[in-house]
Amino acid sequence: MTDFWLNGEKIVWEGDPAIRVIDLLREKLGRTGTKEGCGTGECGACAIHVNGELHLSCLMLAGQLQGCRVTTIEGMAPAGGIHPLQQAFLDSGAVQCGFCIPGMVMAGAALRAKVPDPSERQIREGLSGNLCRCTGYGKIIQAVRSLSLSGSAAEEGNP
Ligand code: FES
Ligand code: FES
Repeated sequence: MTDFWLNGEKIVWEGDPAIRVIDLLREKLGRTGTKEGCGTGECGACAIHVNGELHLSCLMLAGQLQGCRVTTIEGMAPAGGIHPLQQAFLDSGAVQCGFCIPGMVMAGAALRAKVPDPSERQIREGLSGNLCRCTGYGKIIQAVRSLSLSGSAAEEGNP
């Protein structure tokens, strides 16, 4: 049995502890906001936060979540709302097909939790593990940077 907190909700997983976390989230718990791209740790689409740190859910097993605090894209904004980073992505025209965006938001939020006002270089490094097949990197960087420049870190929700 694996107990953990998912977006503030207590989860008791009584199934296979060796199931991948991405499969647990999407197929067992219905949290489909987290995407699977490569499945091998190379694209960042499956990024989540575990105890406040960025992790790739395709490389984690359910049993590793025991006692952990997990945040997915669904838990980033208050109910019915939108996370400031998501708004910045929209405002910057950074969303094309949208597949990579949940992972980008999770990576961007993890970066900003450590570096509240990151430089462009720090943003590029912070998002270097996230691939966008629509090649919209310029606007994605711009989106994270614009939020930094607006100084709205205090308005952010669950990092
Ligand atoms: S699906 Fe996990 S890194 Fe690509
Ligand atoms: S917006 Fe399409 S993969 Fe990034």
